[in-house]
Amino acid sequence: MAGSELPFPNNARAENATIFGGSRFGRKKRTIFVLLLVAVFFVLWFNSDLDRLSNTVVDSGSAQSPKSTTVAPSVVIEDDEADLDEQPEPAPAVETEKAPVKAVEEQKKKKKPSTVAVLPDESTPQHFKYLMIIASRASNLSRRQLIRKTYFGMEDNLEPCMKKDKGFNYMFWVYGEKPMSKTPERRLYETEKIEWNDLEKVDQSAYSQDEVLKWAETTLKERGVTYDYLVIQDAYSLIQLNYIQQTIQSEVGQFPTGKLATDLAWVSPGNKNALVAGSTAVQKLLENESEYKDVITEGENTLMANFYEFHRSVLVQLNFVTAKKELSRLQALKENSPFFISETNRFATWKNHVESIADLTIAVSNIYQDSDFAAVAHTLNLGGSSVCKPLEKASIAVVTSSFIYDNCMEPSASLAADNKRSYALKHNYAFVARSGEFAQQQLREEKRRPVWGKIDVVQKVLPKYDWLFWMDMDAVIMNPEQTVQTLLDEFRNSFPEGPRAFEKTIDLVISKPTKDKMINAGVFFMRNTEWAQKFLNTLQESTYWYNKGPSYEQGAMWDLIQEPGYKEHVLLLENDDHTFNTFPKLYVPGDFIVHFAPDKCPNSAVLGGLKAARQIQQGQTVTSFQED
Ligand SMILES: *[C@@H]1O[C@H](CO)[C@@H](O)[C@H](O)[C@H]1NC(C)=O
Ligand SMILES: *[C@@H]1O[C@H](CO)[C@@H](O)[C@H](O)[C@H]1NC(C)=O
Repeated sequence: MAGSELPFPNNARAENATIFGGSRFGRKKRTIFVLLLVAVFFVLWFNSDLDRLSNTVVDSGSAQSPKSTTVAPSVVIEDDEADLDEQPEPAPAVETEKAPVKAVEEQKKKKKPSTVAVLPDESTPQHFKYLMIIASRASNLSRRQLIRKTYFGMEDNLEPCMKKDKGFNYMFWVYGEKPMSKTPERRLYETEKIEWNDLEKVDQSAYSQDEVLKWAETTLKERGVTYDYLVIQDAYSLIQLNYIQQTIQSEVGQFPTGKLATDLAWVSPGNKNALVAGSTAVQKLLENESEYKDVITEGENTLMANFYEFHRSVLVQLNFVTAKKELSRLQALKENSPFFISETNRFATWKNHVESIADLTIAVSNIYQDSDFAAVAHTLNLGGSSVCKPLEKASIAVVTSSFIYDNCMEPSASLAADNKRSYALKHNYAFVARSGEFAQQQLREEKRRPVWGKIDVVQKVLPKYDWLFWMDMDAVIMNPEQTVQTLLDEFRNSFPEGPRAFEKTIDLVISKPTKDKMINAGVFFMRNTEWAQKFLNTLQESTYWYNKGPSYEQGAMWDLIQEPGYKEHVLLLENDDHTFNTFPKLYVPGDFIVHFAPDKCPNSAVLGGLKAARQIQQGQTVTSFQED
């Protein structure tokens, strides 16, 4: 949103523009220069210490270096199979907006082998040994955060779990009304959704174990998410998953022949708040669901507990029934039943003191106070086991704001975040969204505009990665095939003083649009170096810009990079460069990112942009965007 006052020059992009702007080199000179550069680069490369990015510079970019130094936008938009599909529900919000896309043409879908190693994202089938579903009322943010911390040791999202360990996954089954629109509570809810990506909003108004179970069997299955064991609980229960795993391991070995490991159903009659059930047991339950509904007459009970009672009655009847036909019917039911473990003691109810918790307790229900929850977790030795086993630590983070200014971005914020998250997921980058740093600006002794939160965020996140890729909320990725590594290769290879000089000196890459007075800080790359830390520290002292509109932190950045010691470290992308910060009017098919930044609230412009992004991914060509 920074730079919202800036004009949008109406000229199309210079045909031979390079990332440094078209005017710097003539075409011939440039070709020679590029060839020279490539040669120099390879010489350097073989015996240099150019390994600051050695982990990440492995894909396509370096292989096609001579070509990649010019960044003439590709007009062909690859249709990248299904894995580009935006997850889960962006469509409805966009459809209500008027389309900003002037001309959309169908384009022949041309396939070429992807040069990027695409890892499975949310739309590819995923199987987990244990799938934990925690039912939680939409408004209970604080309990959810306590659960994340207590169960999984997740204090913050600075190094988020981008891919869950195949052995285990968890999610919140969120019921009840979302907090009212345009309230602070709603902002927090949207923010939580963006930052944690573990909320599954359902239509139910209350927790019901049966509904959770059916939801897992239908909605989740349709999405390709399957499991061996389902662990269902409400947010007021605490489950000791380690004990459950241990018990399952030992029990399964002793199953009667004919029963599968996933035939297990672990119930506690009378306790609706915790259940462990194997996938086969769940299927058997739902196969003849109606049969078990009325087994228990007094009070309500869960379907699974009823199934257990039904099973018990079959066993009892088998003792006295003699009629052959009936006997074989009962025998078949017995053989076809899940393997039930009935639990009375180890599924406990909170008795208001931890001393009441017996050894080997695996679940305690009805813990309403957060401090009690923490005390029980301690008593049950909940270690905060990690749910995430990253294959490798991400070296690049896509970082954005999840702070919803005066509610204006409420409808589009989480969709805009999904656009960036799926991009990060596709290329194995981390996706970090933050809001607290924006909110805290008003709490400071010297109050600053919320947008200064960006600097706090960058300071906080940068040390955890090699490169940080900042994107304002209103910047939308149009071409997710573009990788950060390729861009860095291009910067390096076409750097006038050579790739080595780029590695040594450049720590900030940012655009300076032609008609703007200064940089546009809506999108930039920053490298984790001492210089960057010093730059950020100094920036924090720019009191003149704390509340000085319209530029604020952007003005402070611009001022500072005029100074010797700072300006040498900055690569300015000039002349309406299309590398990563294209204004809507200047869009050329193939451009990586469109940054909407209108004068007014960017909500509808962003929704339109997201719609266009999806069309592009479906193989259509979007040629321009309307002025907002
Ligand atoms: C959960 O939400 C309910 C209703 O919104 C509220 O009464 C209760 O205090 C909340 N509990 C926690 C732990 O936040
Ligand atoms: C469900 O009902 C059918 C028909 O009565 C029966 O053949 C089948 O075994 C039942 N399934 C289970 C899991 O009991």
